[in-house]
Amino acid sequence: MSYWFTDPMLKLMLPLMSSSSIKGLYSTFTTPTVFMGSNLLPEGPSIVPTPVDIIGARCPKKRAFLVTDEFAERYAARVAKALEKAGFATQVWNKALPEAPMENVKESAESMSQFEPDVIVAVGGGSVMDGAKAAWILYERPDVTDLATLSPLTPLMLRKKAFLVAVPTTSGTGSECTSIAVVHDSDAHRKVPIACPELMPDFALLVPDFTVSMPPRLTVGTGLDVLAHAMDCVPTPASNEITDALALASIEMVFKWLPRAYRNGQDREARYRMLMAASMAGIAFGQSGAALTHALGHSLGSIFNTHHGLTVGLFIPYILQFYQPVTDKWLALGKALNVKGASREEIMVDLVKKVRALFADLEVPLNLKDLGIPADEFDKNMERLVLYSCEDICHFFSPRPMTMDQCERIFRYAYEGKDVDF
Ligand SMILES: [Fe+2]
Repeated sequence: MSYWFTDPMLKLMLPLMSSSSIKGLYSTFTTPTVFMGSNLLPEGPSIVPTPVDIIGARCPKKRAFLVTDEFAERYAARVAKALEKAGFATQVWNKALPEAPMENVKESAESMSQFEPDVIVAVGGGSVMDGAKAAWILYERPDVTDLATLSPLTPLMLRKKAFLVAVPTTSGTGSECTSIAVVHDSDAHRKVPIACPELMPDFALLVPDFTVSMPPRLTVGTGLDVLAHAMDCVPTPASNEITDALALASIEMVFKWLPRAYRNGQDREARYRMLMAASMAGIAFGQSGAALTHALGHSLGSIFNTHHGLTVGLFIPYILQFYQPVTDKWLALGKALNVKGASREEIMVDLVKKVRALFADLEVPLNLKDLGIPADEFDKNMERLVLYSCEDICHFFSPRPMTMDQCERIFRYAYEGKDVDF
């Protein structure tokens, strides 16, 4: 299969397009209309228009197709009930699979095409929302035969048939507030990102109650995904004052609220703040890019099937150390976390200590060995790990592009838990 991100011309253009010089000439900032709170789907009468009323005003046919999976189906049923009360005909498609395999996305699009909705509602975690975005493309554009060839420069021409509402049931991916969908090519074991401004959902509904049933390990894994998005997007060349403000506030919130949500999943306030932090980091990294945490994390996850959030989170200290020689932007992370130090070097040491202390508090592995990657398998797959990382779309956003040799060294240092010193 050919992928858009292996096209030599695009590989040259994308780093330039995301650079601060180009962004300084022309830049946009987009978000969905975000509704947040525990009373977004009131069962009784409401004195103000509800989110469903506002969504309904844009739907002449009032046909809603809900994409969900077996875990989030109960929440999708609650959303469907609210839509039906507002006069919608609904269909719930509950077969979304983890990682949004392309075959699964096609199946979703076929059901969507038969139902002919004018609104698509994704209710679930990142895979559900990403799969719904990709299925939406195929519904709108039956002429698209291969999702893997859609580059950020391909106009999708969406919204001729339907628009998109995202309702997250985890606090991690931020997909409800990004114009990115990551699907999976199961045959090649590769993640395929589709990034296009048109994929930004029109509405995001943040209902904290929908996240309280996440078990502790998932709470931590998704929470570390938020932290990786936020910490990795500040030093990128495409970041700006708006994305920085959101990312830095999100980092503070993760440090404050993730341990509480981990220890007590029923803590409604912690769940609410983490849901907000995930969306804020999503808005930030969706426009400034999450770089090497995700380039290396995507590659490792594709080959060893490790949890996305745990994997990208684990790389945070190593990639910050790798960025250190070429940028000072990471100093803002230290400031946000009240890290003291007399020099850049001291601040980096204390910043990494602070991140590792949070990881220890959350009982997550600090290196790839402890993540359970067998040494012989790690060595055997090194060539692919490096190639996939260097080709990953997130690599284009890095303040310090990696050579293949540097990439292999970061992997090996992260395996042993050694500080990156090159
Ligand atoms: Fe992520």
